[in-house]
Amino acid sequence: MINNVIKTIKLSNVSSTNDYLKELFRSGETGTVVAIAEEQTGGRGTRNRSFVSKKGGVYLSILVNAQNIGVDHTLITPMTAVAVSDTIEKISNISTDIKWVNDIYISGKKVSGILCESLFLNDGDGPFIIVGIGVNLFKPVGGFGEEIENIATYIFEEYNDSIKKEFIELLINNFFTYFNEIANKSFLEKYKNKNLILGKNIIISSEEVNVESKAIAIDDNCHLIVEFPNKTQKTISSGDVFVKI
Ligand code: BTN
Repeated sequence: MINNVIKTIKLSNVSSTNDYLKELFRSGETGTVVAIAEEQTGGRGTRNRSFVSKKGGVYLSILVNAQNIGVDHTLITPMTAVAVSDTIEKISNISTDIKWVNDIYISGKKVSGILCESLFLNDGDGPFIIVGIGVNLFKPVGGFGEEIENIATYIFEEYNDSIKKEFIELLINNFFTYFNEIANKSFLEKYKNKNLILGKNIIISSEEVNVESKAIAIDDNCHLIVEFPNKTQKTISSGDVFVKI
C-alpha cells in the first residue's frame, strides 16, 4: 500500500499545471501534490502539441513518487486512462472508450487526454511522475476552435460548479485507488476491454514504425501488438494511432 498524504493546490489561471508541479519539484517538493487550474494559457499535450484549456474543463496534475510501485512506471498512463474513464461514466452515465495509449473518447470524439512526465532527483532517485489530466467537462466558452472542433467533445452542455467539484473529487479518489493497487494491475482488464482500436486497421505514427497494420491485442504491459499485411507481428510501446475508416 502506498501512503498518500495529498496536498492540493488550487489555481485560477496557470500556464500548465504540469509545469507548475515541475517547478515545485525542482524547488524541493517530493510529496504527493495535486494542482488544479480553472484554465491554462499554455496547456501541453503529448508530442509537444498544445492542449486547449479554456474555462469549463478540468485541468489537473498529480505529482507521485513512483520509486517503489513494483511495476514499470509507464503503466501509470493507462492506469490513469481507466481512472478517468470510470469517473466520466459514473458522473455522467455516458459510456467512454479508451484509445491506446492515453486518450478517452465519447462517440468517436476525444474528451480527455493524459500527459505523464518523469522527473528524477539530482542524486538519481526516482522516478517521480507528474500525471497531467485534461477533461472537457463542460462546453468550452466560445467553442473548441476550428482546429479541433470536429474531433473534440465535452460531457455537459451547461457549466455547473457542484458537478465539477464532484467530478474532481471522484477523479482524484479513483486515481489513488488504482495507483495504490498498481502492482496488481487492477486497471488492466478494463483498459483492454475499453480500447477502441482492437481488431481495427490502423496507422501508427511512432519512432518504431509508421505503416498500416491491424491492432491485434494489448499485452499485460499495455503495449500494443499489431499485425502487418504479411502476417508478421510487432509489439509497440508508444505512438499515435490513426484508425482507418
Ligand atoms: C494529450 O491529449 O495529448 C494530453 C493532454 C494533457 C492535458 C493536461 S491538462 C493538465 C496538464 N497540464 C498540461 O499542460 N497538460 C496536462
